[in-house]
Amino acid sequence: MKIAQIPTQPFAGQRPGTSGLRKKVTVFQQPHYLENFVQALFEVLEDRRGQTLVLGGDGRFHNRVAVQTILRMAAAHGFARVLVGQGGLLSTPAASAVIRKRGAYGGVVLSASHNPGGPDGDFGIKYNIGNGGPAPEKITEAVYARTQQLTSYAIATEVDDIDLGRLGEQRIGDLVVEVIDPVADHAELMQQLFDFDAMRAWFASGKRMCYDAMGAAGGPYAKAVLEGLLGAPAGTVINGEPLEDFGGHHPDPNPAHAQELIAIMSGPDAPDFGAASDGDADRNMILGRDFVVTPSDSLAVLAAHATRVPGYRKGLAGIARSMPTSQAADRVAQMLGIACHETPTGWKFFGNLLDAGQATLCGEESYGTGSNHVREKDGLWAVLFWLNLLASTGQSVEQLVRAHWARFGRNYYSRHDWEGVATDRADALMSSLRSRLPALAGQHFGHLLIEAADDFAYTDPVDGSVSKAQGLRILLAGGSRIVLRLSGTGTEGATLRVYLERYEADPARLDLAPQEALADLIALADQLAGIRSHTGMDAPAVIT
Ligand code: G6P
Ligand code: ZN
Repeated sequence: MKIAQIPTQPFAGQRPGTSGLRKKVTVFQQPHYLENFVQALFEVLEDRRGQTLVLGGDGRFHNRVAVQTILRMAAAHGFARVLVGQGGLLSTPAASAVIRKRGAYGGVVLSASHNPGGPDGDFGIKYNIGNGGPAPEKITEAVYARTQQLTSYAIATEVDDIDLGRLGEQRIGDLVVEVIDPVADHAELMQQLFDFDAMRAWFASGKRMCYDAMGAAGGPYAKAVLEGLLGAPAGTVINGEPLEDFGGHHPDPNPAHAQELIAIMSGPDAPDFGAASDGDADRNMILGRDFVVTPSDSLAVLAAHATRVPGYRKGLAGIARSMPTSQAADRVAQMLGIACHETPTGWKFFGNLLDAGQATLCGEESYGTGSNHVREKDGLWAVLFWLNLLASTGQSVEQLVRAHWARFGRNYYSRHDWEGVATDRADALMSSLRSRLPALAGQHFGHLLIEAADDFAYTDPVDGSVSKAQGLRILLAGGSRIVLRLSGTGTEGATLRVYLERYEADPARLDLAPQEALADLIALADQLAGIRSHTGMDAPAVIT
């Protein structure tokens, strides 16, 4: 092995977003593009020498090429060992589990999450630290700063590719590359948390489920646990083979993109339980028969029933939700007498709360749910939590959710995504509304009263770090909210997200269609922000 110093020049725009650096595959295919980012990352990880790194991705197009490049760069940068998932595969939660279980220094996950894959799709890279969670902003900002100053990168040359199909150890010079079973550590962790006997009995009694892995990384994990350990019939997992283009799926588990599953769950022969996960298997969607559970409700239901599940029998230390996530979980926290933390969008903001023991369950409106078992959201974990509840209560998904609404009231919720907005127009919309926020408090719009309006800022209670400008909040009397923010995960133009929430306690009004229940808030959002006039669009691209 030789180590080559390859001259290079900075690329603009290598700043990690909500969840790592995410760009079109064609951008990553430019010579030196990936290498520059990895060089900057490794330079920032100053004490990396002699350490163990975890590496894997969601299997999308460009994954294998990138894995080989990163292995050669890890060899050139003094890592002692890299644990790489077989086939280059590791779901995001599994990577987190492996980092924690093996005491690794950190991990590199190759994923653009729920964004489409294939040669014309997206690719991404993110770094996780030794607690298994996404790198905090001080690291990602330092990496970005380094990318803007690079003149060369180091990479091992005159070496063969690692055989990613073969389990066990191989070498690149002094670096030991260990190809590991991507599923084993995560499946073992699931068995420590959930009542596998009860879930096995649920399937044995003839109950059925459908898990849509959407052609992405979740398939092998779901098959191993559901069809393997729990004895669910073959075919329970659909689209279970990870494919480089996800079989053409947009692997985002929501009612707009998981239409095959929605059709199955609303069909005449619908199984009892439906679920889906995204590209890197950290997101989840939960369904009953002809019944969709919103992610915000899912978090609240899991929190309310947590002590039924072995891993959470002792109760919850606290709950955390991202700011735009509905306040349903807050009501459960109040009932339990524990804190409900409100953080900016992005799983990384939960890391300190979990490490400090201030939160046990976390969730986001963007179909992410998880706990302190790892430091990422975890699709299969959420599905097993629900399955454990179905098995231990004997109730259906719909019964559990309706009982929850009856007890706590219902937080009607919807997110409207205006996609592909020209960046300058989106910025103009946000800055215009931001400047008018202070004047909104106290104003009436029809029967709606604005109590407060602000640009959400978060002070981390553990390390005191402050994150500003995390979304515009319009808080109305009675607990209703309108939140606007720009997505940090898109790769084309800007995506404006409008989050709408209304609380309803009246038992006679718990069964409205969400878009109807929220109609006055939807109209007010447009009136206040001028969404149609700023974007030049008539309707949001996606409503969930
Ligand atoms: C990723 C992150 C989440 C975040 C979501 C939406 O999945 O891991 O933490 O909620 O993206 O982010 P966005 O900035 O697009 O709304
Ligand atoms: Zn994801």
